[in-house]
Amino acid sequence: MKMEALDVLKNRRSIRKFKQEQVKDEELALVLEAGTYAPTASGTQGCKIVVVQEEESLAAVRKLNAKVLGRPSADPDPYYGAPTILIVFATPESHAPHRDGAAVMTNLLNAAYAVGLASCWIDRPIQMFEMPEGKALLKKWGLSEDLQGVASIALGYADMPDPQPKERKADYITWIK
Ligand SMILES: Cc1cc2nc3c(=O)[nH]c(=O)nc-3n(C[C@H](O)[C@H](O)[C@H](O)COP(=O)(O)O)c2cc1C
Repeated sequence: MKMEALDVLKNRRSIRKFKQEQVKDEELALVLEAGTYAPTASGTQGCKIVVVQEEESLAAVRKLNAKVLGRPSADPDPYYGAPTILIVFATPESHAPHRDGAAVMTNLLNAAYAVGLASCWIDRPIQMFEMPEGKALLKKWGLSEDLQGVASIALGYADMPDPQPKERKADYITWIK
């Protein structure tokens, strides 16, 4: 699927119901590559994108996110049953960890829509990866414990129609000229 860039930016919506079918590797590769081309402060590329698809790790991430929400279990699942979870981290090299990570996030979300995948920004990795359970996951994945969680993405194929966007607020833009 090839879409015009401005259509992608306007039409991408958060999807909160996913099919169980795993995303195709070739589509995921395009999404991840787009993420790596996001702007970063001073061009450090100070982010890391972790792709979680293995069952035990998916369950652990869902549970840890739910724990930050104050829920005793991952039911309801904060990732809406998505078969892939992307987690964006900032590395110690980043000059602007949360802003770099957010730039990577928006590239990933828009690229996902452009290739026909459904996605939703899922919050709370900041807290998740400050917790001992989060540090243990980083260790299990062979990653440095000094990575800072920024945000995550539920990724898969939509099992619901695209929601309608809210009207844009009238005073969103101010011109000074
Ligand atoms: C910083 C941030 C945190 C968000 N956290 C969540 C979340 O934890 N769960 C969720 O379902 N949606 C989350 N969202 C998605 C927003 O709810 C969604 O983008 C917003 O309602 C607008 O809808 P749209 O993405 O379809 O345009 C988050 C979005 C942002 C930017």
